[in-house]
Amino acid sequence: MFSGPFEASIIKRAKEAGLVEIALHNIRDFTHDKHHVVDDTPYGGGEGMVMKPEPIFEAVEAVRRPDSRVVLLTPQGCLLDQAAAQRLSEQPSLVIICGRYEGIDERVSALADEELSIGDYVLSGGEPAAIVLVDAIIRLLPGAIGAETGTAADSHATGLLEHPQYTRPADFRGMQVPDVLLSGHHQEVARWQRQESLRRTLERRRDMLARADLSEEDRRFLEDLGWTG
Ligand code: 6GU
Repeated sequence: MFSGPFEASIIKRAKEAGLVEIALHNIRDFTHDKHHVVDDTPYGGGEGMVMKPEPIFEAVEAVRRPDSRVVLLTPQGCLLDQAAAQRLSEQPSLVIICGRYEGIDERVSALADEELSIGDYVLSGGEPAAIVLVDAIIRLLPGAIGAETGTAADSHATGLLEHPQYTRPADFRGMQVPDVLLSGHHQEVARWQRQESLRRTLERRRDMLARADLSEEDRRFLEDLGWTG
């Protein structure tokens, strides 16, 4: 499940450049029974299986370093956002625990420094969430992305959605690149980009505006679009 994403693109390059080391551990390897059982039926009855605590504790205790931060991925966790990705990218070592099956024994929480979810939808396991988390963290490591690309202007890094982007051709099937972008007026281009970023955020993610760092000019622009704060 991890070999594709972890062997491609930015994650692959960050590994090759020595910016990050990733190790995968199968909790089945930390069982002691013949069939490597990692789950059991829930106390109190009900549907599905619950992951047992012992293999997870043994796995984390075997692989963690004294400076590791332990993150448990679960749909019950706090929502992952760019600030959390930034904070985790500054940690020297992370242990990421992926839940599987319908649930995980509550006592595993005691192992974790924090619990994270990647969004308000249900995945069948924590593995895709771990891939998302690892990608979000690694691209923030200094040197992982070229300085000319950078992460500073990313959607969410600024607290606003990014402005629209275009490349050649200027006319594609009758759909035109906005004139201002062809004008070469750097100041007007910057103003247009800021305003489109504000417009987009208002239309798609009004909730983000409450937390964004807005100038007086930004506020006036948004108010003209009907924003009331
Ligand atoms: Cl971390 N795990 C699962 N199973 N589902 C999720 C999730 C995690 N985050 C959002 N949905």
